[in-house]
Amino acid sequence: MSNMSSKLDLSKEFVGRRALVTGGSRGIGAAIAQRLLDAGAKVVVAARSRSDVTPTAATFVSGDVRTSEGVKAIAAETLEALGGLDILVNNAGGSRVFPGGSATIPEEEWQDALALNLLSAIRLTNAVLPALRASKAASVVNISSTAATMPFGPAAHYCAAKAALDAYSRTLAVELAPSGVRVNVVSPGPVATPSADELRRTYPGIPGDAWLQWVPLGRFGATDDIAEVVALLASDRGKWLTGVNYRVDGGMTAR
Ligand SMILES: NC(=O)c1ccc[n+]([C@@H]2O[C@H](COP(=O)([O-])OP(=O)(O)OC[C@H]3O[C@@H](n4cnc5c(N)ncnc54)[C@H](OP(=O)(O)O)[C@@H]3O)[C@@H](O)[C@H]2O)c1
Repeated sequence: MSNMSSKLDLSKEFVGRRALVTGGSRGIGAAIAQRLLDAGAKVVVAARSRSDVTPTAATFVSGDVRTSEGVKAIAAETLEALGGLDILVNNAGGSRVFPGGSATIPEEEWQDALALNLLSAIRLTNAVLPALRASKAASVVNISSTAATMPFGPAAHYCAAKAALDAYSRTLAVELAPSGVRVNVVSPGPVATPSADELRRTYPGIPGDAWLQWVPLGRFGATDDIAEVVALLASDRGKWLTGVNYRVDGGMTAR
């Protein structure tokens, strides 16, 4: 019951917490990084390059999460900048889509999707695990997708990689629970980010807004909608949550 009043002050709930957000240079990752910064966290964002919406109050670390070397460098630079780690958000992800279906997805695109959406999270978690174990408030949040449970042949590689990320996260949650490291998943539905908007706009046969027919709440998600749930899971408000997968999707998977 200690410290209850500060737990209820959301504007300060991440004071003293150190966070790494991959893919934090834009889109959902930038919103997550900004949400943590706004509540007092020290934040490192990692991506291959900055953008004009990269949170300026965050420390930027450049690297490619698809390779072991890239992940090692990101982990080392992050721990040097922050002196430890409490919150890891594995958000970098995505893939190209192949309207011809799963059989048309080239082998190298499968490798790329698995490296970006699955192996990156595994490697980075392993690289920072000693720091997380040393934290008194350690939390890992992996950003998956409703695609993990809603089959879509043109992105079969992405669906499979995210489904594997979900299974890995549940397994890790149980394994790490005794050490106090919580592991949870947020699965966004269609969120308005420039890259996702472009994909939906150019996808053959489904005009832009037609994607909304699958979203009962009738709008695309905002990046803040995802960031808010990540903040809940990463904060003390979520201290008895581990192994959960929150679908933040305007009701899409409730159908
Ligand atoms: N937007 C949606 O509708 C939606 C729906 C479901 C799930 N998601 C998931 O949510 C996450 C974020 O999606 P988003 O729409 O915000 O994506 P986004 O706008 O395309 O941003 C992706 C971020 O990841 C970084 N990134 C990409 N490849 C990287 C690499 N190889 N190494 C390091 N960083 C890399 C990008 O920066 P650089 O390119 O400079 O590296 C950028 O910061 C992804 O995991 C995605 O699968 C999104």
